[in-house]
Amino acid sequence: MKTHRLALIPGDGIGVDVTDAAMAVVEAAARNHGFSVQATRFDWSCAHFVQTGAMMPEGGIETLRGFDAIYLGAVGWPDTVPDAVSLHGLLLPIRKAFNQYANIRPHRLLPGVEGPLKSSGFDILCIRENTEGEYSGAGGRVHQGMSNEVAVETAIFTRAGVERILRFAFDQARVRRGHVTSVTKSNAQKYSMVFWDEVTREVAADYPDVTMQLMHIDAMAAKMVMAPETLDVVVASNLFGDILTDLGAAIQGGLGFAASANICPDGTGPSMFEPVHGSAPDIAGRGIANPIAAIWSAAMMLDHLGETTASKAVMAAIEAVTAKGIGTAPGRHSTDQITTAILTALEKPA
Ligand code: IPM
Ligand code: MN
Repeated sequence: MKTHRLALIPGDGIGVDVTDAAMAVVEAAARNHGFSVQATRFDWSCAHFVQTGAMMPEGGIETLRGFDAIYLGAVGWPDTVPDAVSLHGLLLPIRKAFNQYANIRPHRLLPGVEGPLKSSGFDILCIRENTEGEYSGAGGRVHQGMSNEVAVETAIFTRAGVERILRFAFDQARVRRGHVTSVTKSNAQKYSMVFWDEVTREVAADYPDVTMQLMHIDAMAAKMVMAPETLDVVVASNLFGDILTDLGAAIQGGLGFAASANICPDGTGPSMFEPVHGSAPDIAGRGIANPIAAIWSAAMMLDHLGETTASKAVMAAIEAVTAKGIGTAPGRHSTDQITTAILTALEKPA
């Protein structure tokens, strides 16, 4: 029997609740589909930082390298650790260290979920560059705290980094509806974004079967509200992708439904799966977090691990549950109720 070795990092706040929910579903799927999972839990979090002075121990990255996949709940507890410290101490270094350059985020309405828009027919796959661009961390501050203080943060775009994320997006379009929208702001940012557009045209030439459109980020924000059904694969830089995928989450009914995968396409390291939402300190510990984004992310993990049938079964179970109105309205069902309903649907497919 095939065993998948998983590193679990539940993290902070509701990250813990939704990781438990997602793992219960993964274990049930494993039982039903003839594979096993061996999960190792790491309590790396803001609480860990308060105790030890670091989000993860020294050598944490090397510890993770040996796993088949990483599952992460959420990171952040700003009351005790500033977000810029906690995220740069755990989530962001993992994305970079394992070359998880493709952050994949699907945006569509699950059955029974209404969302705020008139249009319900959209099915968008956002591909966000996940290792460089505006998140490169290149910069500094001088004259700190003085009236002449200067802060500089440089976005870095490399040809290798831009080309590989675009190729990834075009490959995805090939197995979807054959359309890529590449998002920049090349009318204002005349170096990096003009460069991105140029590379997009070069890559597009290798994919004559895929149609391509260049769009500015501001127009894209409007398009995702006014005509999301016209979009298929959307590819963008790290920061633009971050912003657009919260918009994507909003139109799919909220962050409780937004799943994501941080993929290392060359397989040199493990990929990481996490819901888009954060640790939500306001509802932490109340048992009311929606686990659907987390369970959907786990389905993406199963697919990545080659457990395609199990992944499809988990998605079908999620959809059977939302179609009945379970988990579709904030706060109406508890985390446990939604998870139990999904587990039940998994045992008895419709
Ligand atoms: C996300 C989050 C992170 C990001 C934060 C927490 C650093 O917003 O995964 O979208 O910006 O990448
Ligand atoms: Mn975000």
